[in-house]
Amino acid sequence: MNSAPSYTSVFPPLYIGLMSGTSLDGVDGVMTAFDGPLHAAYVPFPDTLRAKLMALQQSESDEIHREAIAAGELARLYAECVGQLLAAAGIEANRVRAIGAHGQTIRHNPAQGYTRQINQPALLAELTGIDVIADFRSRDIAAGGQGAPLVPAFHQAVFGSPTGTRVVANIGGIANISVLGATGRVLGYDTGPGNVLMDLWASRHLGTPCDLNGDWAASGKVNQALLAKLLDERYFMLPAPKSTGRDLFNPRWLQTRLSDFGALAPVDVQATLTAFTARSLADAIRRDAPDTEAVYVCGGGALNGCLMKRLQEELGKPVQSTEALGISPNHVEAIAFAWLAARFCERLPGNLPAVTGARGPRILGALYPA
Ligand SMILES: Nc1ncnc2c1ncn2[C@@H]1O[C@H](COP(=O)(O)OP(=O)(O)O)[C@@H](O)[C@H]1O
Ligand SMILES: [Mg+2]
Repeated sequence: MNSAPSYTSVFPPLYIGLMSGTSLDGVDGVMTAFDGPLHAAYVPFPDTLRAKLMALQQSESDEIHREAIAAGELARLYAECVGQLLAAAGIEANRVRAIGAHGQTIRHNPAQGYTRQINQPALLAELTGIDVIADFRSRDIAAGGQGAPLVPAFHQAVFGSPTGTRVVANIGGIANISVLGATGRVLGYDTGPGNVLMDLWASRHLGTPCDLNGDWAASGKVNQALLAKLLDERYFMLPAPKSTGRDLFNPRWLQTRLSDFGALAPVDVQATLTAFTARSLADAIRRDAPDTEAVYVCGGGALNGCLMKRLQEELGKPVQSTEALGISPNHVEAIAFAWLAARFCERLPGNLPAVTGARGPRILGALYPA
């Protein structure tokens, strides 16, 4: 009767979401109570950490040690992002109910029963004094699922419409779609590469982490023979549920396909890689959401004007960023991990079995108490 009021009775609980995806660009963080103001922060990876994380994407010597060191550096960067969010909001750590921290994927191999998102969640809890929920994907894989994508449930919750089908395309390093049916039916999977190959080519030939706005690609010419060769990939034929990562779409994959195109100007390769991302996304949308009214793009790909234009040309329907639905494309995935943390705290499932292929709904994540 006289139980002490918790802060939740005065303020709605706040959650922090931290996302660092396959692009290896940095940490996107948000703090939100879901129906109030939103604070956002971005902490880019230092080049040294990016190089360590990149090296961990394939098998090399002394991986366990190198993984632990990189995970510690990552957790410190996560803590820095949390510090920025608290400072921006002018609140204390004890106001935040939990942090949902995705971690950094270094392997994704659901067929062999594992996926690995490195992090040091215990260190993050120690540094921030906030409960940390981590390791969101393993339980879905344990239940026979892909462990990915996990964002469609959140996309449905915030972007679904009862009046028609909508598609949300998240274009990070890898691209995934959520097809949000008017009835609440959701379908989703990784369509293939997002920015990962374009970034690789831009960094090799421009020395920049990405092709800003796709301007370089826009000045080149798409090579149809190379485009056909890139599209001739078994992954695109596989039925959903399916998910992918740098394990497949990596420099080796690209190099093999470029071997007959040595004479092609680098700028034309970039134009073709951009067309490739657009086409593989459009093929998936045409196949699984032919009736969609519009496509809403989130993730860094929404900032690539050339890619957005190509996608719109492919589909012949409106392609806009999720800003049109009220959420910045840069914030969607981080909010999704704040939402997944909230689902964990309420002991509610976070996966959609129809999307991941898991045997059933599962509570996702593991708690590292403050
Ligand atoms: N202004 C821009 N122009 C072109 N591409 C951009 C721009 N801003 C971001 N990107 C792309 O988006 C990527 C980051 O997207 P993000 O959604 O964070 O992906 P991930 O979740 O894989 O980290 C960058 O690596 C880059 O390729
Ligand atoms: Mg990112």
